[in-house]
Amino acid sequence: MLKLTSVSKSFGGLKVLDDVTLQVPQGAVFGLIGPNGAGKTTVFNLITGLIPPTSGTIAFDGADLAGLAPHRITRLGIARTFQNIRIFNEMSLLENVLVGRHRHIDYGFAQALFSLPGYRAQEAAARERALELLGWVGLADKAADVADSLSYGEQRRLEIARALATEPRLLLLDEPVAGMNPAEKTELMGAIRAINARGYTIFLIEHDMRFVMGLCESVAVLNFGRIITCDRPEAVRVNPDVIEAYLGRDDDAGAAAPAIC
Ligand SMILES: Nc1ncnc2c1ncn2[C@@H]1O[C@H](COP(=O)(O)OP(=O)(O)O)[C@@H](O)[C@H]1O
Ligand SMILES: [Mg+2]
Repeated sequence: MLKLTSVSKSFGGLKVLDDVTLQVPQGAVFGLIGPNGAGKTTVFNLITGLIPPTSGTIAFDGADLAGLAPHRITRLGIARTFQNIRIFNEMSLLENVLVGRHRHIDYGFAQALFSLPGYRAQEAAARERALELLGWVGLADKAADVADSLSYGEQRRLEIARALATEPRLLLLDEPVAGMNPAEKTELMGAIRAINARGYTIFLIEHDMRFVMGLCESVAVLNFGRIITCDRPEAVRVNPDVIEAYLGRDDDAGAAAPAIC
């Protein structure tokens, strides 16, 4: 579904990504791990068109994404969340999700101004869908609350609902459980599994090894801008290069988690 071929990225003289090739199959939960500064978020920034690659190609469903503006890439069916929460604190959860949904509402200025039936029907459908998406991340009962009132874990889930509101087929999650407590992590893991089961392909960056291992079918490991392995989680966990570079000790993946990212 998503294919990066020999992608490199330099900022000034600094080569941040070097010949990155990876494929995310349709329907997968695919993980990208690696230490802080390895270039993981840069991969997402390239995929979503925020920055252009220095060389290499990125294709989505066979279409080359080169030169496409971020909103065009969103329209093709790729949505993301950010490593740092980006929500509108003063707005309700429902309004936050509706902002994400904006491009799906297709009405003219006059219709909106005079509140014509077409506009009202689309608004109603948009609100219904936004409530449904909030339900997918366990926040439907808080739809009218102000986003600011949410816990950190809930805010991260709200971001996922908002990303889903653009009706993507591929969802990119940048460290979705960062800063969450264990209960929140388990809850989010369930929500991501359920979203994947609904047919969404998921590509996630994560540093919590237990989370990655429990969720992903394949995991790519990025180190100093290069992919050092891409394999099933069980194989990545015992890969000597990965252990040496990240885990330090060959013990259970969960216990080794602090060494990652
Ligand atoms: N827009 C940018 N301009 C200059 N340097 C950047 C930019 N974005 C990222 N970098 C650098 O690229 C490297 C990789 O960053 P990043 O992709 O955020 O890593 P990760 O997400 O794996 O922690 C870092 O050294 C970072 O400082
Ligand atoms: Mg990052």
